[in-house]
Amino acid sequence: MIGGTYMKNFPHLFEPIQIGKTTVKNRIFMPPLSTNLADKGYVTDALVEHYSNRARGGVGLIVTEVTTVEPTYTYLPGDMSIYDDSYIPGWKKLVDAVHKYDTKILSQLFHPAYMAFPVPGTPQLIAPSNVGPYYAKSAPRAVTVEELHVLVRQFGEAALRFKKAGGDGVEIQCAHAHGLLGGFLTPLYNKRTDEYGGDINGRLRLTLEVIREVRKQCGDDFIIDVRISGDEYSEGGLTLNDMIYVSKQLEKEGVDFLHVSGGNTIKRGSSMPAPGTSPAPHAHASEEIRKNVHIPVATVARINEPWVAEELIADGKADICMIGRANLCDSEFANKAREGRTDDIRPCIGCGRCLTGIMFGKPIACTVNPSVETNDIDEADVKKKVLVIGGGPAGGSLCSEEAWTRGCALREGERTWRTVKTCSCAYQQAGAMQGHQVHGTASE
Ligand SMILES: Cc1cc2nc3c(=O)[nH]c(=O)nc-3n(C[C@H](O)[C@H](O)[C@H](O)COP(=O)(O)O)c2cc1C
Ligand code: SF4
Repeated sequence: MIGGTYMKNFPHLFEPIQIGKTTVKNRIFMPPLSTNLADKGYVTDALVEHYSNRARGGVGLIVTEVTTVEPTYTYLPGDMSIYDDSYIPGWKKLVDAVHKYDTKILSQLFHPAYMAFPVPGTPQLIAPSNVGPYYAKSAPRAVTVEELHVLVRQFGEAALRFKKAGGDGVEIQCAHAHGLLGGFLTPLYNKRTDEYGGDINGRLRLTLEVIREVRKQCGDDFIIDVRISGDEYSEGGLTLNDMIYVSKQLEKEGVDFLHVSGGNTIKRGSSMPAPGTSPAPHAHASEEIRKNVHIPVATVARINEPWVAEELIADGKADICMIGRANLCDSEFANKAREGRTDDIRPCIGCGRCLTGIMFGKPIACTVNPSVETNDIDEADVKKKVLVIGGGPAGGSLCSEEAWTRGCALREGERTWRTVKTCSCAYQQAGAMQGHQVHGTASE
């Protein structure tokens, strides 16, 4: 469709972008979204389907969910991992499935530190200092300098394994005061007095060492991006000024792009905006950071509509839009935007069910997308006549998708049908889905 509707509607969003030595086909990237779909850290068929569907749906680049770099601490029970070579074949399968659609893929390398899941047998948690989150049951211990040297090497080795699997690069997670590197960066958790603590340079040291190690092991054509909070919005936490300085240091260290989120785990909700929050609440930070560096800068959070993403880029607030939950709700988000079918996008309502579930160790689920992993609904073996009573979101979705795609004949009550017709989201889907004709009147 080059030169077609999408060029007319979203020319900035669908303009390719140069990331280091790699060209990415558009500026819709998918940020890390944990799914709990791995099996003891290994890639499963469900994970391959989950990510390849988003690639098929048109995103330019996917950053996978957290991927642990060593075996002692788990973030969530269904986390992905890459701490030894036995993980490489699974990752290769995943990377190949994503590359089939000309989508790039980065793995988000992570150490949970004081945010590890309480899997039975987990030793005392580690942290920059003996400071953990307020909800922790017991205080963590301060990690030693010797342990840090091992961890830096493990980050580099994990990145190299991902490269061997064909991956395009890695994201280093330092945002949200989350996990080891995020914890070291923020004065809220890092109270150390050695070379890894103190002023901003001391607190940034570990992250810079990790980047250097990854670069040493993986070379110049491997993408490294760093996820940061542009502002922690917390008393005593990192400010936008701090993060402009940090961004410049990251650029000097050879990072290829910056992924600017916001908030932290102390100020709950700040990194995961609730429904009703205005779109792209961290874009003021990405805009300022962008003025101070020469590498691409991404913004993230509640960018649920293509026109919002287009404006953010056109107005110079970011070079890239990371679009997370909207891609969970509708894996065809990018394709629909590109084709000008924006009214067909199934919207994220921001309810937070996806996050709540995974934090309790459950597989990813979405309120508005019952088949969030695959976006496929199998045809029913036994075809039935279905009477839908009630045309709210559930009835509307059933009318529009479930029953139609399973090949069942629908019969809606007249009032239901009227409601469905006026429920714009459901009606759009019911009318246009899959090219089916809608027979929805009371007499049919
Ligand atoms: C279900 C779920 C899982 C997430 N997992 C991760 C993760 O593994 N790593 C991370 O840095 N952020 C994670 N996040 C935060 C997202 O990357 C993103 O910052 C957030 O969802 C806001 O963007 P959105 O409104 O486009 O979804 C997760 C968010 C959700 C909803
Ligand atoms: S569960 Fe709710 S917040 Fe999560 S992606 Fe679905 S609609 Fe959006």
